[in-house]
Amino acid sequence: MNSAYQNCQRIWINAQIATLDPLIKTSYGLLKDHAIGVKDGKIAFISPQQEIDLNAFQGDIIDTHGHCLTPGLIDSHTHLIYGGQRSVEFSQRLNGNTYEEISRAGGGILATVTATRALDEDGLVEQAQPRLEALLKEGVTTVEIKSGYGLTLKDELKMLRAAKKLVKNYPLRLRSTLLAAHAIPPEYQNSSDAYIKLICEEMIPQVAAEGLAEAVDIFCEKIAFSAAQSEQIFVATQKAGLGIKIHAEQLSNSHGAELAASFSAWSVDHLEYLDETGIKALKKSGTVATLLPGAFYFLGETKKPPVALLRQYQIPIALASDLNPGSCPLASLRLMLNMGCILFGLTPEEALQGTTRNAATALGLGDTVGTLTVGKAADMLLWNIDNPAQLAYQFGQNSLLQRIFAGEISYA
Ligand code: NIG
Ligand code: FE
Repeated sequence: MNSAYQNCQRIWINAQIATLDPLIKTSYGLLKDHAIGVKDGKIAFISPQQEIDLNAFQGDIIDTHGHCLTPGLIDSHTHLIYGGQRSVEFSQRLNGNTYEEISRAGGGILATVTATRALDEDGLVEQAQPRLEALLKEGVTTVEIKSGYGLTLKDELKMLRAAKKLVKNYPLRLRSTLLAAHAIPPEYQNSSDAYIKLICEEMIPQVAAEGLAEAVDIFCEKIAFSAAQSEQIFVATQKAGLGIKIHAEQLSNSHGAELAASFSAWSVDHLEYLDETGIKALKKSGTVATLLPGAFYFLGETKKPPVALLRQYQIPIALASDLNPGSCPLASLRLMLNMGCILFGLTPEEALQGTTRNAATALGLGDTVGTLTVGKAADMLLWNIDNPAQLAYQFGQNSLLQRIFAGEISYA
């Protein structure tokens, strides 16, 4: 008999626990007929059902009736704070203009910059709320939110503060990322190096000092910033002690992923044009490759990320929504699980790993969340499904029975 459960405050019994723990050598790390208990917001106990005697148990008992428990979903790449929307640009694209052309003509990201600058912190919170709630209702328990539509010190700080204010009212973990190097601001059109200097010398140090973000990101692309400029950002980020992320190889190969890996980046994201040299660099640094099928789908791209090679080199793959007004206005991580499989050929298990365990690593949270393991935060989802593959297989039916955040049932 295992008596550790006696100390738990709450216990879920008769469960199929998809732990996603790599040390459990079944697919999904699945444990059938198990019980899982929580104490002080953490997972305190996991054991086979028959090893516990519930007669003496004082806490809450939840009978799952054989349903699946998984780790809370983690959306490790979003731009969910922004002003306005870009449906006009959507129409332009369907009339034959490309994302790149619209961006070069001053639309795209810069259109959202104008709308974002026009709002105050509360206005941004208000507009982002329905997007956040959509993610939350599907089972997201950790969300990353980037700045990047302010592009001045004041407006980038405003976005990061809005993210904190927004998430404060919900049972959610937030990771914030400074993405000041998202586009060249109108004020610096012919002097992007001066803008990079401002980011390195003022924005990164201030954001780090105020604890407003855990990581720094850059859009490394022909229409944005070069690999050389990315390197300057990485040096300043390392100096500030923050995590490194990059939007790389989305529309072309600028070798940004390789460079980010040489700085031990947490993740490199998009990656449609990533080559084998880049993948070897990721292997060496242990960096997560984040795939964003929603942006691929929404922009009608045809070049797919090199999934077979990523697998061959055993690179951890994360999957995220990239929720943003231009390339992916789709507030659904469940849809991304399905798209990751259909569009990129991931297996349902890889898709779930990508939105739990590997997403946690991509946010520097690998020791805290992402698997159902004793000692980690009790962020768990109880689903009305009997096989974890159903999470990627079906879409549009919300099969979530209970949303458990830090051990508390916050949505049922
Ligand atoms: O991740 N690639 C750059 N940034 C976003 C798009 C942002 C926008 O168009 O507003 C992305 O796809
Ligand atoms: Fe993005």
